[in-house]
Amino acid sequence: MGKVLLTEYNISNRKLKEKTTIASIADAHSEYEKLERIKDILKDLKITKVLIAGDMIESVAGSDYQRDKIVELLQEISNFATIIYSHGNHDTVYPEAEPEENRERLLENNYRLWAKLKDSDNIIMPKLPDNTSNVIKTSLTSDIDVSSISIPPNYYYFRESPMEYEIYIRSLDMLRLDAEKFNILLAHSPKNAINGNAIDEYLKSIKRFNLIVTGHMHSGLIPNGLRNKSRRGLLGPGKKVFPENSYGIMQDEDTVAMINGGITKLASGSFGAPLRSVPGMNKLLDKVYPPEIDIINLFPGDNTVNKVKEYTL
Ligand SMILES: [Fe+2]
Ligand SMILES: [Fe+2]
Repeated sequence: MGKVLLTEYNISNRKLKEKTTIASIADAHSEYEKLERIKDILKDLKITKVLIAGDMIESVAGSDYQRDKIVELLQEISNFATIIYSHGNHDTVYPEAEPEENRERLLENNYRLWAKLKDSDNIIMPKLPDNTSNVIKTSLTSDIDVSSISIPPNYYYFRESPMEYEIYIRSLDMLRLDAEKFNILLAHSPKNAINGNAIDEYLKSIKRFNLIVTGHMHSGLIPNGLRNKSRRGLLGPGKKVFPENSYGIMQDEDTVAMINGGITKLASGSFGAPLRSVPGMNKLLDKVYPPEIDIINLFPGDNTVNKVKEYTL
């Protein structure tokens, strides 16, 4: 079984009253063997709070067996930890993007999977994919609130459209936050929150959050040994070359943004499919780009952010 890369951060903040440890994961893209290893590590580390930044299910590529296994593993994690989930662009089906003869089957199957997870007591998520609500706020502890925003199924296909962007962001603006609490935003893509090295000035609502936890960037395919030199990757989602902010943390005043590097890097549902079909390639990719878990220790105290260590298990 392959290794997993763990990065541990300490964040202290004046709004926090007690120590809380949270793990964040993202982007399994139906690769359930890796999620199984992640589950065992989270359990061994006695993690009781897990933020999942989406794309765990590959809703179109891959097999039903893989998707069912992912759901099963998420349920197993929820037996020892509270899960808060934010749907990513691969988690749901946008029927107009699929051949007509497949639409009904894909949608039905997708609804069935998410219904199973929504019925779990310890899994909190917005009501997608039925589109009734794409945002949910919940109390994680007495001093921490988490707001989770999911990408609507059609968002990815209209991501360049200012109107779709506005609708997505507007639902965040409408959230009533308790200013006394440490507010975490869980969102699939950092592109909605971050522009360059600073948090986008345009998105004033983002700055109301103390911590933003995201995924989607798949670490920008930076081999482990080069990660400390640059946060710019080689290849990011949408075939973008040298993407900025592909993993790790950035800070703007009192808001910290954390990008999880993902469980899978070259996912079979995107441009990784041809590479993954080369014999022996899966094993090699997983060795060079191991699945990632971020561990976030939150402490009371003056506002500081520190990366504590990075290690493999
Ligand atoms: Fe992804
Ligand atoms: Fe994504």
